[in-house]
Amino acid sequence: VTRRRICASADLADGGAGWRFDLPGAEPGTGQTGFLVRYRGRVYGWINRCPHRGLELDWLAGQFFDAAGEMLICATHGARFAPDSGRCVDGPCGRDGLQPLAVNECDGGIFLVDAPAGGMP
Ligand code: FES
Repeated sequence: VTRRRICASADLADGGAGWRFDLPGAEPGTGQTGFLVRYRGRVYGWINRCPHRGLELDWLAGQFFDAAGEMLICATHGARFAPDSGRCVDGPCGRDGLQPLAVNECDGGIFLVDAPAGGMP
């Protein structure tokens, strides 16, 4: 099992700004990013790619939640996703959802576990 520390626990507020990072194996600036959010106390990691058009979700870097802090939202066409399951609950994505990243939180940090090789799956 490989683990990579992404950020500190304190960097993620519940329903607040997310944390973007380059996926392992991806060149910086190529748009292959993941992100972390905290929702109802737990941390979730997702590949930052909307299943609708393959674009990153956030226009304002790190802003993934809607105004209520209850749903993740794609800035381009407004698809909304459940923060804990990644399921598309509204918008043009149909049955497709976000692709999960395995993360865990311990010792005051948040770690990516067994990251997919080469960035995008
Ligand atoms: S690209 Fe995300 S809703 Fe269209």
